[in-house]
Amino acid sequence: MFSGNGLIWAEIEKRTGREILILRIDRERGKRGTYLVGNNLKFDLDYDNFDVVDVDAYGVPFGQLERIFSKSSQPKMVFITFIQSQWGTLPRKMLNALGYTNGMIKKVPTLFYRAGQQKFLRYLASRGVKKCQISYTPDKRKNYLSVEFC
Ligand SMILES: C[S@@+](CC[C@H](N)C(=O)[O-])C[C@H]1O[C@@H](n2cnc3c(N)ncnc32)[C@H](O)[C@@H]1O
Repeated sequence: MFSGNGLIWAEIEKRTGREILILRIDRERGKRGTYLVGNNLKFDLDYDNFDVVDVDAYGVPFGQLERIFSKSSQPKMVFITFIQSQWGTLPRKMLNALGYTNGMIKKVPTLFYRAGQQKFLRYLASRGVKKCQISYTPDKRKNYLSVEFC
């Protein structure tokens, strides 16, 4: 859904030696190869037609995950990249889903942007995700969290 130049899946094909049927979407023109151009949230996909959905966003792909959770009727493998700058925000609706009201968030926003990864995992659990594999790479500015679940 966040195809970029399709580097990750090209590498997976290379390493596995398997042909993988890939539907790529990116909102920017001029990327390598063939893909659909546009905001991925505007494409009405039938997720049941896919074995794996890859949401390698620059930020927190909350809207995309909500769509996948609500539209998939069977277990699914989803690869997620979660990036929160050290003082970065979290999607308000994700915080709402965890029980934090807009009034609470408005009073002291930074309080609710702390421990983003734990909040993200709690959000996934609240949507019924039971299995995750996480690789976590902290650096000075950003935290990366890749989650895989089915
Ligand atoms: C981290 S890069 C993905 C790199 C990719 N996984 C690869 O292997 O080359 C994120 C990409 O998502 C695209 N993007 C960000 N928001 C988007 C959206 N709402 N809809 C579609 N593409 C989006 C950006 O243009 C960027 O190319």
